[in-house]
Amino acid sequence: MNRLSVLVHTWVPDDLRARLDDRFDADYHDVFADGLLEPGPLKERFRDKAGVLLLGSYVGEEILDACAGTLRVVANIAVGVDNIDVDAATRNGVLVTNTPGVLDEPVADMSMAMVLAVGRRLAEGDRYVRAGRFRTYPFQLLWSADIGGETLGIIGLGRIGKRVAARAQGFGMKVCYHKRSRLPDDEAAALGVEWRDLPDLLAEAKYVLLLCPLTPETRHLIGAPEFARMRSDAFLVNMARGPVVHEQALVEALRAEEIAGAALDVYEFEPKVDPALWEMENVVLTPHIASATRTTRLAMIDLAARNLEAALTGGDIPTPVNPEVLKRSF
Ligand code: GLV
Repeated sequence: MNRLSVLVHTWVPDDLRARLDDRFDADYHDVFADGLLEPGPLKERFRDKAGVLLLGSYVGEEILDACAGTLRVVANIAVGVDNIDVDAATRNGVLVTNTPGVLDEPVADMSMAMVLAVGRRLAEGDRYVRAGRFRTYPFQLLWSADIGGETLGIIGLGRIGKRVAARAQGFGMKVCYHKRSRLPDDEAAALGVEWRDLPDLLAEAKYVLLLCPLTPETRHLIGAPEFARMRSDAFLVNMARGPVVHEQALVEALRAEEIAGAALDVYEFEPKVDPALWEMENVVLTPHIASATRTTRLAMIDLAARNLEAALTGGDIPTPVNPEVLKRSF
């Protein structure tokens, strides 16, 4: 029997590699070692593949149309699928899967860590000590912002946002949220969160935390007018996707002291980071590592692989994004 070909566009642990080699003709591209494949080479590597285990690169209409009839599944190693044209995939009968659930707790932890880091000037303190500047009793040093008693405004209250809300209450914060569909009153009351429209949340929150998916509606959701609405002592924390924030407008808002600081795990032109941000002491920068605990990264890759295997060899698909294609026969 002819073995199916798959593209593995990611690093994989040895045991998973052995499993994939056992079942498929696998073509490996280690993104961490060799970088993301650009659209041209990626399209070449997609050719004749029945499935792809995908990290990072953008898979658009052109690639999906070119693979029509051969490609059956793209198993994304992320919960967000903004790097895949899901409509084009559906139109071509290609199943898209993602990795929800397994990363909620670490992303919630990291969101809280970023609120604390930017509010309490953690990275500045670290740089101060490393620079050998800690030489006397630091009573007037690095005065920072409160956490307890302050308002956290969460934009995008899904599974992760709800876990952040619970953590924030442990720190004595007030929590409000903005989301297109409001939570039922009893759920909001149980979580201790209050809905706000976006302008009110921006004007009220000391910490504005982004956790919404990137969609055409949320692209540049936070730009110059939104920074103008925020408190001048407020911090922006972006744990969602870079393009939710207009990065140039953020740089200008920080320069003009329209807001007090920012903590960013994601960037508009990732992995490029605007060098203007590197220079700013009141900005905390991390390299898209919100879900990067060892356990979670391994769980994500395992879930993505199980999606790929089920789609190609049978069985229930754990986490399909466009399950409607399963009703069609290939
Ligand atoms: C990470 O950013 C994810 O979407 O899982």
